[in-house]
Formats: sequence, C-alpha cells, structure tokens
Amino acid sequence: MSATVITNIATLVTNDPSLRDSDPLGPVRDAAVVIEGDRVVWTGESSKAPATDNRVDAGGRAVLPGFVDSHSHLVFAGDRTEEFNARMSGRPYSAGGIRTTVAATRAAGDADLEANLTRYLTEALRQGTTTFETKSGYGLTVEDEARALRLAARHTDEVTYLGAHIVAPEFADDPAGYVSLVTGDMLNACAPHARWIDVFCEKGAFDGDQARAILTAGKAKGLHPRIHANQLSYGPGVQLAVELDAASADHCTHLTDADVDALANSSTVATLLPGAEFSTRAAWPDARRLLDAGATVALSTDCNPGSSFTSSVPFCVALAVRDMGMTPDEAVWAATAGGAAALRRTDVGRLVPGAYADLVLLDAPSHVHLAYRPGVPLVTGVWRRGVREV
Ligand code: NIG
Ligand code: FE
Repeated sequence: MSATVITNIATLVTNDPSLRDSDPLGPVRDAAVVIEGDRVVWTGESSKAPATDNRVDAGGRAVLPGFVDSHSHLVFAGDRTEEFNARMSGRPYSAGGIRTTVAATRAAGDADLEANLTRYLTEALRQGTTTFETKSGYGLTVEDEARALRLAARHTDEVTYLGAHIVAPEFADDPAGYVSLVTGDMLNACAPHARWIDVFCEKGAFDGDQARAILTAGKAKGLHPRIHANQLSYGPGVQLAVELDAASADHCTHLTDADVDALANSSTVATLLPGAEFSTRAAWPDARRLLDAGATVALSTDCNPGSSFTSSVPFCVALAVRDMGMTPDEAVWAATAGGAAALRRTDVGRLVPGAYADLVLLDAPSHVHLAYRPGVPLVTGVWRRGVREV
C-alpha cells in the first residue's frame, strides 16, 4: 500500500490521549503526518518523518483532526425563514415550529430528501467535518421515521432514532398513545437502521417519565441513549442522561449545580450547541462552569432548519470561545476529540497511529485562528479516510 506524508506542518493537533492531562491537543511543531490507506500510521517532527512515495507540502500551515459533529438533524425538507425573521423581531423560539418541518418532510419524495441531506453534508465537509451524527425526528410516523433513518444510514454510521422529537400532530390529544407508538411499532421499524436513540426532554415535548420509558425501550432493542436535555428550561434531562449512562446530554443550557456535578462524575459528555443559542437569541450555555467542574464537553452544530441552521463547526468554535468561556484549545478539542467522546469513538477526533486519516488543513499557522479569524473560510484541505476530498 502506498503511503503519503504531509510535511511542513507548523502546528499539528493530535489530541493524543496519552497527553490528555498535560497538553490535551498534544500539538507538534514543524510536524509531519504519514497516511497509509485510510489510517494515520505516523506523526512527529518533520525532520524525522519516514520516506514515502507521495509527499504533500502543508506550507507552514496547521493540521488538525477532522471535526466530529455529533449532533445534527439533516433529514428534512423546506426551511423556516419566516420563523427566523419573526424571532429576530422578538417572537420566542418554541418546539412548536418543528411541526412545520414535519409537514414539509412528510410531503417530500425520497430523492428530494436525500439531495437535501447530501447538500448539507457537502457544505459541512468543505468546512472540515469528516464524521457526523444525524437524526430522524421530522417524520413522526412509522414509515416516515424509518425512511429518514434509511436515508441517513447511506451516509453515516452514526444514525439516531428521534421519533420522540415532539408528539406527532395526529396524537395531540393522546400523548400516551404516541409514546406507545414510539416504543412499539415505530421502534421496531427504526431500530435496525440506527445506532442511537434520542428524546427531546422538554416542556412542550416529553417529560422525564416519558423520556425514561422511551430510552429504556430503545436500550432493550440495542440502541444507545443520548438526550436533548435542558435546552429551553431547567428539567430532568441531564439527570436522566447520567442515570441511563447516555453517551451525551445535548444543549445543557439550563443547568443546576446538581446537574453539573452529575455530568462531571459520569461518562456522559455535555454536548454544547451554540448555533442554537445564536439563532434563538438565547443565553449561552456555560462551558466554563462545566469544564471547571471536570465534565467532558463537546461542541457540535445541531444543524436543523429551526433552531440552528448552520453546518459550520468553525463558526461554533468561534462562538464558544467568544461567548461561552472556552479557550481556543478547549473549543478545538471539544469539536474533535469531544465529539468523538460523545459518539463513544476512539478512531476519529485524534491523529495518532491507528486512527482514521481524517484531517483538516487550515490556511493559518495554528488552530487558534479558527476563533481569532471568525467567519473566514480557513479550511483549505480535507482528507477523509485517507482520501483528499477538498
Ligand atoms: O436540537 N430541540 C429540539 N430539536 C432541535 C430543533 C428542531 C427544530 O426547531 O426544528 C434542536 O434545537
Ligand atoms: Fe438537536
């Protein structure tokens, strides 16, 4: 198998886990990385790089692991421009807007839904995302949820069943009946296509008891839990995530001290989604408080047409540094190794021998520029599974 060396890297972010306690990004200066097939086989100082068939000169730029976007909702049709406009004139965000996208998604054909999905994936790839999770949740019938997951599974292994996004409109007067469907026929149809199960635990969506019933049923079918927790208000979501050993509690915008403690003493990652606070003009989640308590933090886009219509991890990194108390190093770790932890993956989010060769080349000498130069398209090269795609 032929190997490629990328050399003349000013800053190489490795996220080497053996350095997690001393220097989490494990950066190497004047570095090189060697790729063979779809894997990284060597990293270190340029001068010590082994000879290879192919050579790429990084030109004194930075290389980091591809972003791991562990939370998105990309199987949908239509958009919600009017809702966004109204919000920017003062109307608050509510879960009810999800119904607009449910109607548009149900009405769309498979080809249109997949074209839309591919469009946002391509957009994300150009901005450095090489691993992404995506969810159902805009179908809310047995057939429409299963279809969303089938389409998603053509593009990623990280597929999440979110039949419990809101109570389907047909069940407005019978939420218990909808929970039975989500934990029964819908789960049976969806489980074969998914790795994860998620629930929107929030006023106006599902309460703690309903969420526990839904996630427990999913676990019994071999799905692993993750939760939309404490986004719009305080509530039981984070505690439930920890109780059920969910891989991630997502949003974490309204946290009590007990919620922060629970996360810090668990292996549940707090996934923060600043695109949602940006697009709903809500208060920012307090990343500093979580980090200082010892919780593991991930950063993701939550890309969806309602609360966070961005596919850009670099944008989220910049917001997290500017407004959530993270250092640039912490934010870059959270968007790479943090996202991998939220998906319980060790083969992505790091550039060490054996990991997938998923790399981002920035037109900048260091990863700090992602926050220092917000809004600038700095991603100039992307390798996924060892293949240069951008
Ligand atoms: O993560 N909070 C629930 N779900 C999405 C929003 C979905 C929508 O508004 O369409 C979120 O923010
Ligand atoms: Fe979400």
